[in-house]
Amino acid sequence: MIDKVFSKKKEVIETFEFNEEVTQVFDDMITRSVPFYNEIHRIIVDIYKKIKFKDEVIYDLGCSTGSTIKLLHQALPNSKSSPFFIGVDNSPSMIDECGRKLSNEKDISYELIQGKIQDIELKSSKLIIMNYTLQFIPKELRLQILKKIYKSLQKGGIFIMSEKIKPECFNVHTLYTDLYYDFKRRNGYSNLEIMQKREALENFLIPNTIREQKNLLGAAGFESFETIFQWYNFASFIGIK
Ligand SMILES: C[S@@+](CC[C@H](N)C(=O)[O-])C[C@H]1O[C@@H](n2cnc3c(N)ncnc32)[C@H](O)[C@@H]1O
Repeated sequence: MIDKVFSKKKEVIETFEFNEEVTQVFDDMITRSVPFYNEIHRIIVDIYKKIKFKDEVIYDLGCSTGSTIKLLHQALPNSKSSPFFIGVDNSPSMIDECGRKLSNEKDISYELIQGKIQDIELKSSKLIIMNYTLQFIPKELRLQILKKIYKSLQKGGIFIMSEKIKPECFNVHTLYTDLYYDFKRRNGYSNLEIMQKREALENFLIPNTIREQKNLLGAAGFESFETIFQWYNFASFIGIK
């Protein structure tokens, strides 16, 4: 379904929520709002194909409607030893939708957990993905979550995280924001939609700078970490244990 959540003028703009209304249009919303969303998936699939799995766990933290899990499963459809996917999301409607999407997949092993990432225990895993989710978690909890992720990974395990990021320099920040709104207009969003969503996300989506993001990865225990992708104010990071 096409995202029209902010298309009509709202008298009061409430804080953004991953509720039923958003869930219904989420796949359209994210592909039109996150630059190179499909390319990031391509990168994740490429990395995933390099890992030898033997029934090990892959986490998708903040899995939303399960698009990433579905894509990974479909990338190696006839693999003899496929991984066990665990999707975590605190939104009940997202978990329901994710379950619906994955139930159509053949020979997939998975579990979905409805809960807050900061509250759940992570089992031993080989790959953890957390795309566009840490930015919604209070800043003071982020390091604790990344430490938990590092602890869960087996030696050689990989963590991939994508986020909206905040440039350190104000002038660059202004330019990137302007370029990002151009991108949203190119994808069919009106100025009203852009401005109303911006207001709804204010104080809810709190981006880190790239430096903060890398400091967190280092402080969590990762010795090897890099930016693997950046487009203006969006970046993806890899950490290897
Ligand atoms: C932007 S979406 C993630 C998109 C998804 N990873 C993808 O690439 O398609 C953020 C998701 O994180 C979930 N979320 C936000 N805070 C969370 C938390 N503390 N624990 C678990 N899930 C959370 C939201 O419900 C939402 O589904």
